[in-house]
Amino acid sequence: MSDSKQTISSNVAILIPLEFSPKVKQILIRKNIYNDELRPKRISQKLALPIDGDFDTLTEDLCREIPDILGDISIEELVLEKNSPKLTPAQLMSANISIWLDGLKHQNNKQILLSYLPQKWELLGDMVLLPTISFKQKEWLELFSHCSETEIYELWGVICDSLNVNRLGRQQPISDDIMRTSQVELLLGQEGWVELLDHGVHFGFDATKVMYSSGNVTERHRIGNINMEGEVVIDAFAGIGYYSLPMLVRSNVKHLHACEINTNSIEGLIWGAKRNEVSQRLTIHEGDNNITLANLKNTSDRCHLGILPSSERVWSLALECLKSEGGWLHIHMNVAEDKIASWVEDTITKLEIITRNIGRQWKIEAKHLEKVKWYSPHTRHVVLDVHCSE
Ligand SMILES: C[S@@+](CC[C@H](N)C(=O)[O-])C[C@H]1O[C@@H](n2cnc3c(N)ncnc32)[C@H](O)[C@@H]1O
Repeated sequence: MSDSKQTISSNVAILIPLEFSPKVKQILIRKNIYNDELRPKRISQKLALPIDGDFDTLTEDLCREIPDILGDISIEELVLEKNSPKLTPAQLMSANISIWLDGLKHQNNKQILLSYLPQKWELLGDMVLLPTISFKQKEWLELFSHCSETEIYELWGVICDSLNVNRLGRQQPISDDIMRTSQVELLLGQEGWVELLDHGVHFGFDATKVMYSSGNVTERHRIGNINMEGEVVIDAFAGIGYYSLPMLVRSNVKHLHACEINTNSIEGLIWGAKRNEVSQRLTIHEGDNNITLANLKNTSDRCHLGILPSSERVWSLALECLKSEGGWLHIHMNVAEDKIASWVEDTITKLEIITRNIGRQWKIEAKHLEKVKWYSPHTRHVVLDVHCSE
């Protein structure tokens, strides 16, 4: 049998006017009778959407849900091509948006519009966050100016269906305030609370209010893999518990002090602690860590300093928080790729000076440097593990 014969078969489809196709497709998906193994086919000003299963009352149901479609539907047997079995989510989104574009009355340059579609996004539970620039190009803005609210709403629905999620947001630049407030714009969905599971750790937070960096996933796993049994640990920039929760759940710390200034992040942290059943081993210190760290002097075996671009302003406080016998610091920093080696040397020198100034006689050693991710074309987000010992 030739390839072409394998990909073509005779099948049942519902023929509807192009402009109703996104709405009808959503209804077919909801009723579980959309046949996504076959490709929709445009026939003049109509679209044939493949269906299977029980469609006895489909025509009446559609007329009830979309009164304007009355009399313009037929169910027919047609020859349709098989969908490529290996459509990536981005390809599926493009194919479905192409159908949506065909259904619009307003003329549009489909090829250009489709060429701007996002190729990557952030998946947070049942929500997808599109990159900042998505659907903001002048061609898309010009098209939206001719679309009704319903049509735009349908587009967000088409994207959600393609990516198999219920809610859609668009990233806005993370604000430069110290709280790193998230400015996600919710395109589809009522509220921004998301819950996700990462390496056995549950996280929950409002994506429209706080940031979550999926790019730090390897570092979250690495920190969670370090055995901290019996240790008292400080997380000086705890956020929703990006590192605090893996340390509590996986590294098995005895007690964790989480410093955090943003009440929205603390809401997530409290939720995560309950969900992971670690609340008993967690103390949250709300407020500016310039003050809260000062109350934790000589208490800890380890201090985690997870803030970018630099945590240098609290290095002295962090060293003072370690027990008299010393301990560990995990220092996050953005560093130019070609300056990483000299930055490590400088950092150790600075820590040695601070150590002497606070009256400690410790040996300060750089034990490991982790390159977490590219922050910008020449700058890396790195983490330096520093050991302080008598
Ligand atoms: C970058 S976020 C933490 C992100 C997380 N560590 C990560 O890498 O994904 C930094 C957190 O530090 C908190 N923060 C910033 N300055 C602070 C301060 N002076 N005292 C306490 N928390 C602070 C912010 O509110 C934010 O939740």
